[in-house]
Amino acid sequence: MNKIVIYFSYTNHTKMIAEKIKEKLGCDILELKPVIPYSDNYQEVVDDENNSETSNYLPEIEDINIDLNKYNEIIIGFPTWWYRPCPVMRAFLTKYNLDGKKVIPFATNAGWLGQSFEEIKELCPNAQNEMNIVFGTKYQENKLVTKESDIDNWIDSLAQ
Ligand SMILES: Cc1cc2nc3c(=O)[nH]c(=O)nc-3n(C[C@H](O)[C@H](O)[C@H](O)COP(=O)(O)O)c2cc1C
Repeated sequence: MNKIVIYFSYTNHTKMIAEKIKEKLGCDILELKPVIPYSDNYQEVVDDENNSETSNYLPEIEDINIDLNKYNEIIIGFPTWWYRPCPVMRAFLTKYNLDGKKVIPFATNAGWLGQSFEEIKELCPNAQNEMNIVFGTKYQENKLVTKESDIDNWIDSLAQ
């Protein structure tokens, strides 16, 4: 299997896990970026994005500059934003067709996953739903609360 981990991260929780996946599996990695970067002010982003709960507006994302045909397994990582996959990940899955690939999603969130994985399934019907995995982050304290060993075990399970 030729694997890549593709992720978006605003406060680096998802990035930390994506980097770990890259290290442990020795796979490629790609960070998604919006063309217009988000503000550095966390609360401003939370407030500005509030309407993304019901709006289907998607940000423009930077070109990915890789050939997805090279990969048959794609691990996608995203934070939950307003009970849904963050808009950058939704933009990616809307723009690029992953049909026929093994898609393994993981999300980081602060306790309210909402419809995150249901929506990934809709955007990406070939996702391996049983592999969906959530990593918890502590609300307001900005750190991962999931046990390191749980993260390691999950990543190891992807090596097979
Ligand atoms: C705009 C915004 C909306 C968020 N909405 C939710 C949410 O609906 N549910 C939740 O559990 N966490 C929510 N969070 C918290 C993030 O999902 C959580 O901190 C995540 O681990 C951040 O990942 P990152 O560091 O990779 O950006 C939100 C954060 C932001 C910035």
